[in-house]
Amino acid sequence: MTIKIKSTDEIAKMRVAGRLAAQVLEMIAPHIKPGVTTEELNRICHDYIVNVQQAIPAPLNYKGFPKSICTSVNEVVCHGIPSPSQKLKNSDIVNVDVTVIKDGYHGDTSKMFFVGKPANTQKDRDSLKLIRITQECMYRGIQQAKPGNTLNDIARAIESHANANKFSVVHEYCGHGIGNEFHEDPQVLHYVSPENNIEIKAGMVFTIEPMINAGNRHIKLKKDNWTVVTKDGQLSAQWEHTILITTNGAEILTMREEESNIV
Ligand code: MF3
Ligand code: CO
Ligand code: CO
Repeated sequence: MTIKIKSTDEIAKMRVAGRLAAQVLEMIAPHIKPGVTTEELNRICHDYIVNVQQAIPAPLNYKGFPKSICTSVNEVVCHGIPSPSQKLKNSDIVNVDVTVIKDGYHGDTSKMFFVGKPANTQKDRDSLKLIRITQECMYRGIQQAKPGNTLNDIARAIESHANANKFSVVHEYCGHGIGNEFHEDPQVLHYVSPENNIEIKAGMVFTIEPMINAGNRHIKLKKDNWTVVTKDGQLSAQWEHTILITTNGAEILTMREEESNIV
């Protein structure tokens, strides 16, 4: 395993790529409403990335992935494929995952959206709680991302907060180093494991992207060989940021305007 420490020049490029990825999520937000298809969301993001940002949507043709973003609705854990036959409806929850390449470097980020206006029902309250706790898991992980800690400190923060809320952490997919490649070393697991005892160092850039299930952690792969769903059919949520390790903490390269009061 080789974890690349980014140069000053690479860091400057990753700041740009990260900002562009964040701006795609800001741009798409008002389009997430009942009746829109995930294919329409894909097209709007694709056109914005290519024509406005003059960047490249990294998922398109990545290992054969057919679209420019991932849209993961309800029980879909990750890697949902946008489709013209999938209309969003009231009370759905959807993750939009955007990765752009600019000047050879990647920025990777995702967030959850609740579709329409939440009703005062147990179901909608449960969905909102899953979304909120998953975002808190990501932030708690980011807070542990600093020199001197290990990747297990990040994992522990995520896993303990999920479990304290009776949710479960997906094991099969993880965060990752990122740079001039989409997925680099190290793997950033979201659960504590002996193989995760890797020291965090300044100049590393990686993602933290916990997938948290309302039910048990188990998953299955659909026949399209991409879409990952919960085995028990219950909801799953995910949030993702790309972060740079600094001398005393982490800089979130994919931060959105709306987060400036949270972080
Ligand atoms: N953006 C995803 C990640 O966070 C990867 C998507 S790969 C794709 O790592 F091929 F499905 F796009
Ligand atoms: Co990622
Ligand atoms: Co991503």
